Amino acid sequence: MMKVSETGNVKSLAAEIARLENVGKISQNTGLCILLVGLDKASPLSPTMHNAAYGGMGEDILYIRAATDDLKGRVGEMRSLGARFRGASVGIPYKQDIMQYLDSVDETSRAIGAVNTVVNRNGKLYGYNSDWTGAEKAIGEKAKWDDIKSATLVGAGGAGMAIAYMLRRRGIRVTVYNRTPDRAEKVAAALGVANGGGLAGLEKAKPSDLIVNATSVGSKLGGHVGESLVPEEVLRKSKAAFDAVYLPRDTKFLEQAKAAGLTVVHGDRMLLFQAVTQVELFTGRKAPVDTMEKALNDYLRSIS
Ligand SMILES: NC(=O)c1ccc[n+]([C@@H]2O[C@H](COP(=O)([O-])OP(=O)(O)OC[C@H]3O[C@@H](n4cnc5c(N)ncnc54)[C@H](OP(=O)(O)O)[C@@H]3O)[C@@H](O)[C@H]2O)c1
Repeated sequence: MMKVSETGNVKSLAAEIARLENVGKISQNTGLCILLVGLDKASPLSPTMHNAAYGGMGEDILYIRAATDDLKGRVGEMRSLGARFRGASVGIPYKQDIMQYLDSVDETSRAIGAVNTVVNRNGKLYGYNSDWTGAEKAIGEKAKWDDIKSATLVGAGGAGMAIAYMLRRRGIRVTVYNRTPDRAEKVAAALGVANGGGLAGLEKAKPSDLIVNATSVGSKLGGHVGESLVPEEVLRKSKAAFDAVYLPRDTKFLEQAKAAGLTVVHGDRMLLFQAVTQVELFTGRKAPVDTMEKALNDYLRSIS
């Protein structure tokens, strides 16, 4: 028996939808949004926010976790749902691979090199990226953009690329470091930022105003809870710290940054703002931000 509620892993989308219909959770007309991530990577936070939003908006839509190791197969299953399929949030590790299966990818997602949102319009799948605006709003809530002229970015995956794009767009000097140096080099070249190379180079990183963790280190979903890649002496050279990791909310990286006197920005704020944009893309309506924020905060409180 699949333990959907624990892992969010779903072997067959059709079987999962039939199960939800059988238990009376949805009707055959209910619209469906899908969280498309790798096995064991589906946190309950996105469904919590999205479903609170659809409830508040009076939309007959259910957002379900459907983690899989078969991206191509899952895209086929989503397409076969027809108009019932409203869209998908795309997460680790599919933000780049998903692009080949879409009918269209918007210019920004193409520039970033990653898609985190898929929208179904009349049977055609369109790719967008709401991570960069989510990160921009989250950082802007706490830090003053005018004070940030330089940034050290750790991580060159989907989140790192979106954040590099956003910071660069703001005219901020960014240096990117990554465990796999080749990936840092490629992202630096593609997004016009400086290449710091592998993580060893971080020890000698030049002082910067903002330091960002865009790796999965520190995350419950990544298996490195309680760890941080950023040396404390690097933190002391910075003014503000942002962690894309949202589970747990208080990561070791942010705890150390706070202790060093930095302004800290939590990943759950990016999660909220990127989800707000997704709700608006899936429904074509304004999202109830307060309702989503309350659902997210209540959930985070319940597990802290
Ligand atoms: N708050 C939000 O709204 C939001 C949105 C998107 C993502 N995120 C979070 O951001 C993090 C990264 O997500 P992503 O989409 O960028 O994933 P991704 O594309 O799979 O990239 C993962 C990144 O983490 C690095 N990494 C993984 N394990 C590592 C380790 N043990 N040591 C050093 N580096 C390691 C990878 O380095 P390599 O290239 O060497 O593998 C890569 O830079 C995740 O925790 C995710 O939950 C948050």
